[in-house]
Amino acid sequence: MATPVSELDLPDISHLDGVSVDEARRTMSEIASEHWLARGAIGVAALRYEDVVAMLRDKRWHSASGKILEFQGIDEAEWGGRRRTSIRSAEGDEHTRLRRLVGPAFSPKHADALRPYMREVVNGLIDEFVDRGEADIAVDFCEPYPIPIICELFGAPKEDWKLFSDWATDNFRIFNGNLMEDRDLIIRAQDELDAYVGELIEQRRSSPSDDLISALIAAGDDTDRLNHSELVMLCEAVLMAGTDTTRNQIGCSISLFLQHPDQWAMLAERPELAPRAVEETMRYFGAVRGTARFASEDIEYKDVLFPAGTFLGLSAATANRDPEVFENPETFDITKEPSNKPQLTFGSGIHYCLGAALARAEQQEALVIMAQRLPNLRPNGDIVWKPGTVGIFGPEHLPVKFG
Ligand code: HEM
Repeated sequence: MATPVSELDLPDISHLDGVSVDEARRTMSEIASEHWLARGAIGVAALRYEDVVAMLRDKRWHSASGKILEFQGIDEAEWGGRRRTSIRSAEGDEHTRLRRLVGPAFSPKHADALRPYMREVVNGLIDEFVDRGEADIAVDFCEPYPIPIICELFGAPKEDWKLFSDWATDNFRIFNGNLMEDRDLIIRAQDELDAYVGELIEQRRSSPSDDLISALIAAGDDTDRLNHSELVMLCEAVLMAGTDTTRNQIGCSISLFLQHPDQWAMLAERPELAPRAVEETMRYFGAVRGTARFASEDIEYKDVLFPAGTFLGLSAATANRDPEVFENPETFDITKEPSNKPQLTFGSGIHYCLGAALARAEQQEALVIMAQRLPNLRPNGDIVWKPGTVGIFGPEHLPVKFG
């Protein structure tokens, strides 16, 4: 008979909420060598690779991303009855249908088509600060980089970058912990983005182009296509999921290279290492530390009963250093023969990152060009980190010198 999870004597990781992500990951990895499960501030957390993957692939565990309001103690009415189903929170047949329809538009081939544009943006941003011999990589590079790429993906005009950037920033306030204070700003940003994207969709219906929106409009066949509100939802999901993740991941990766100048120089000399460099930086220091699920029904796993409603954290950060899966997991080495199992910073299972091909291409292009144009990269003061409380983590300020 399975033991209810509440009756297990589990190590407590709730006290790690306030410590640095590095220290939290180290302590959690130590715990993971003894226990596969730990107790957090809300619910429990799986720490080892095998369990993180198994639970992410188990469709009875549903995405917790639609529950942000609930977890912050806010009910539907207070939020103006505006809950929407996103691809991130959809489950079952609804989710399968969405992924089937949108999958082809996010293929590696589509991402590769944007590489020349990515290089143009990367070089343009570096041009702005290269003569200074110093920069704040978080502010001068990471912050502005993903927005023009997403705009290009949508086929939106360049002069509208700032709008997208502001909508993304205001939408991200949802994670700041002051939901009711930020409520009006968030709702206004959502309304403006809805209206803008709605108009873009109507334009593309009458004159299709080779952008993502036209591809999504054309997706499917006469028996099944995405409707208008699904198209709007998808564009918003892409803007939200594809901005902060990419910028913070590049920030985390650069902070890592600052500690490994030999590998920075090697990447400049051997740009063919870019794909491995991206997987290794994401494994060693992922900006997405983990994700969350809740039990949609009573679930038994490894003789433990997780009652319906149980909140489960899945720690990609510790799974990515699991010695059962990665050889010398504590060593950062972009030349290393990769494990036959993927790093988990893009997730796993049905919600696996839809934009993974695009995110890989964005990082590969950025890291190689930066390594070549910013040789001898070194710290120029302390890195200021964003608070580690939300799922995405990265540097607020990353001062460097080069040349
Ligand atoms: C380094 C950058 C990125 C990282 C680390 C990342 C990570 C992730 C992770 C971990 C998930 C799964 C979350 C879960 O299971 O709860 C996810 C989902 C998703 N990502 Fe990314 N992502 C990145 C970039 C992007 C980009 C550039 C796009 C868009 C072009 C994107 C679009 C999405 C979407 C739409 C989902 C939801 C998929 C679904 O629920 O079916 N991501 N991402």
